[in-house]
Amino acid sequence: MARRPFVAGNWKMHGSSASNQALLAAALADGKRCAGVDVAVCVPFPYLAQAAGALQGSGTGLGAQDVSEHASGAYTGEVSSAMLADLGCTHVIVGHSERRSLHGESDALVARKFVRAMASTLKPILCVGETLAEREAGQTEAVVLRQLQAVVQTTSPERWAHAVLAYEPVWAIGTGRTASAQDAQAVHARLRAALATWGAPADAIRIVYGGSVKPGNAGELFSMPDIDGGLIGGASLVADDFSAICDAAQRTH
Ligand code: 13P
Repeated sequence: MARRPFVAGNWKMHGSSASNQALLAAALADGKRCAGVDVAVCVPFPYLAQAAGALQGSGTGLGAQDVSEHASGAYTGEVSSAMLADLGCTHVIVGHSERRSLHGESDALVARKFVRAMASTLKPILCVGETLAEREAGQTEAVVLRQLQAVVQTTSPERWAHAVLAYEPVWAIGTGRTASAQDAQAVHARLRAALATWGAPADAIRIVYGGSVKPGNAGELFSMPDIDGGLIGGASLVADDFSAICDAAQRTH
């Protein structure tokens, strides 16, 4: 089945109102130029309104990098899915490895956030991935399937068509080390098979790769049958690099 590739920038905690302008203009142009590719940028909370204004009416999606598990209430510092949707967000990242490792987010909490996003109009981008120690211990498959299953078992499978799954091996994030296209493909295929077993519309779900994706390796990764695009960190902060990665997604699908 032909899936539309999805390429999202994750700016993490970078940017300023001044520096964002050029990146947003470039992302808007990428979304227009790359017909057939869904392009999105996930910006820090304080810049969502700026990004929503800059991207308004364009095909480029807008994502937040986290969401509260709660609908509303006395949760100082938290941001709800309704607020994100109200601001114009189309997507939200849940379960990024930096949230899991630096903020102690458990599989169960990630699942609750995913459900909360699903209950709104937001499309969740669920991140899974193993650490270097887990990979070296031969646990890659067990870890990513555990992370995925925690979410799948709390949701109804048919609703997954709106979600994006991101395989982000922790050891490849921000390190310049990328999973080989073959290794990443093997994990993606395993994730897709698991989604199918659980009754989700596996053929329709985009499974994107993240971890040191650059213009030089994007084409090879994206040409794999189960790699449907990328979640891009560092390279999404360099407009020309992000554009080249969006172009690679278009070329290879
Ligand atoms: P890098 O592309 O900087 O490795 O980051 C990947 C990532 O964590 C995207 O969410």
